[in-house]
Amino acid sequence: MTQFNRILLTGAGGGLGKILRQGLAPLCKTLRLSDRVDLGEAALNEEIVIADLDDMDAVMEMTKDVDAVAHFGGKSVEGKYKEILHSNIMGGYHVYEACRLNGVPRIVYASSNHAIGYYPRTQRIDDSVPHRPDTLYGVSKAFVEDLASLYYDKHGIETVSLRIGSSFPEPRDHRMLATWLSYDDLIQLVTCSLKAHHVGNHVVYGVSDNNEQFWDNASARLIGYVPKDSSESYREKIEKNVERPDRTDPSVICCGGMYVNYPHWDDKED
Ligand SMILES: NC(=O)c1ccc[n+]([C@@H]2O[C@H](COP(=O)([O-])OP(=O)(O)OC[C@H]3O[C@@H](n4cnc5c(N)ncnc54)[C@H](O)[C@@H]3O)[C@@H](O)[C@H]2O)c1
Repeated sequence: MTQFNRILLTGAGGGLGKILRQGLAPLCKTLRLSDRVDLGEAALNEEIVIADLDDMDAVMEMTKDVDAVAHFGGKSVEGKYKEILHSNIMGGYHVYEACRLNGVPRIVYASSNHAIGYYPRTQRIDDSVPHRPDTLYGVSKAFVEDLASLYYDKHGIETVSLRIGSSFPEPRDHRMLATWLSYDDLIQLVTCSLKAHHVGNHVVYGVSDNNEQFWDNASARLIGYVPKDSSESYREKIEKNVERPDRTDPSVICCGGMYVNYPHWDDKED
């Protein structure tokens, strides 16, 4: 049954955006897709808006007459400060502020495990721990999670922030055996986040039903998420083909993986 009239999906041209372009279509009469890259032809139930998230006027336009936003646009890995600032921090602020001004009641935000990446894997954290970002990218995710908190407490806009682990067609290394989120489970998680009643400001981890888990994800069950996939079927392939990393390396001690070892990106040559 169609529940929404119009949903906006930002980052629709990205890896996860392409999956959600198909996966969210059944939930709404019209799926409005936005990105700064070409999105091809609009299907019958689609609208396309090409815009940069750092342009507030454009974000105001794209959030008009929508019932909910799935905010997946932005820099999706570590980057230079200015890029993170424009795409993630200003972009995130524009989405929240435009939703307030246009009366949009709910946002599903693609946050990241890198907002809490410096926690050791031995500490079983849940959604309530203070942020412990491992990169400027992680700081931007923590910032938007805090915007979500402010915009719920002050303006009543509901958010589910998804601290996504690693969402790819299949897990590629030992860490991803714990952090993998299959594409089917991603669609289910975003669907639950859009449809659940009274979510307030809610944080969940975006992972499948993997045998290995870094995080206590009880908060995801509260919105009805029951993951169907597991990384376990890929374990043998990974054990055989991928070298086991040194257990004393910070990237193995901390849940953020190699992000904890990254230098400051502005020190890197272009
Ligand atoms: N894939 C994962 O495993 C994973 C893990 C954690 C978090 N996430 C988050 O999920 C979201 C989607 O991830 P993805 O893997 O699809 O990334 P992606 O890089 O494939 O897609 C991001 C999209 O955002 C668009 N974008 C970037 N900056 C923009 C700007 N300033 N204005 C307009 N559009 C802009 C890009 O053009 C791109 O199409 C991101 O926010 C990412 O941080 C993904």
